[in-house]
Amino acid sequence: MTVSLSGRGVGHSFGDIAVLDGLDFEVAPGQVLGVVGPSGCGKSTLLELICGLRRPDRGTIAVAGRITERERLARSAWMPQTDCLLPWYTALDNAALALRNLGHSRVEARAEAGRLFDRFGLSGFEHARPDQLSGGMRQRVAFLRTLVSRKDVLLLDEPFASLDAITRAELQEWLLPVLSAENRTVVLVTHDVEEALYLSDTVLALTARPGRPAAMIEAPPGAGPAREHVVTGAGFGRRREELLGLLKRSPEPTAGERG
Ligand SMILES: Nc1ncnc2c1ncn2[C@@H]1O[C@H](COP(=O)(O)OP(=O)(O)OP(=O)(O)O)[C@@H](O)[C@H]1O
Ligand SMILES: [Mg+2]
Repeated sequence: MTVSLSGRGVGHSFGDIAVLDGLDFEVAPGQVLGVVGPSGCGKSTLLELICGLRRPDRGTIAVAGRITERERLARSAWMPQTDCLLPWYTALDNAALALRNLGHSRVEARAEAGRLFDRFGLSGFEHARPDQLSGGMRQRVAFLRTLVSRKDVLLLDEPFASLDAITRAELQEWLLPVLSAENRTVVLVTHDVEEALYLSDTVLALTARPGRPAAMIEAPPGAGPAREHVVTGAGFGRRREELLGLLKRSPEPTAGERG
């Protein structure tokens, strides 16, 4: 089942520091919302608010029309900014962790997660520990762990941030059909404007802290031709320049506002 996700007037502060302000967003079932913005503008905080780990100081966030933290926690899977793989667990046990947390037995959880290893290009690495995996493989294990929980909403925080440009482009190309086949409602946070436009249906650009909406841009369709053809297209280039222009104009927080 796919669900809608929306925010109305969402704002949040840590003590005196306003981090997010006046955010409205709407993600239709099965759509991908990209979120870009300068470092520290509150992107990770926004995901923590959506998945119910925090309660927004102002406004409401609804998943499938339900606004309580409990409902949002039950329906969202969050892939944090660092991969958070347990170093003493194998890739398979790390991937199965979300299912174990949902109460599945170890055998069931491993079988379910293991079924996805091939599709994730991880076959043969089930018993490898995280330090025996490449950066790209670690990210795929972390993503698999997020996906396997079968939650309706996926919240991906900079899933490829730590990777080199080539691995990153490969994983983006790999992720696009996976997201489209999964048909989940997704929020993808990234610093990378190109990544946001390539993987999302709509991109929300935020200002510097406190993150406020600077623009909501429809992304050109990314499915079909290879990534290099999509990102060199004229429509893609125009939107990329528009987003980069918005981010450049976004002022840095003043010394008094800095956290
Ligand atoms: N638990 C917390 N307590 C106090 N301040 C916090 C907390 N979490 C985040 N902040 C502050 O809130 C602001 C936004 O942080 P957040 O991590 O959401 O930004 P971000 O946009 O994800 O940044 P980056 O792009 O660097 O990941 C920062 O100034 C940060 O220091
Ligand atoms: Mg962050």
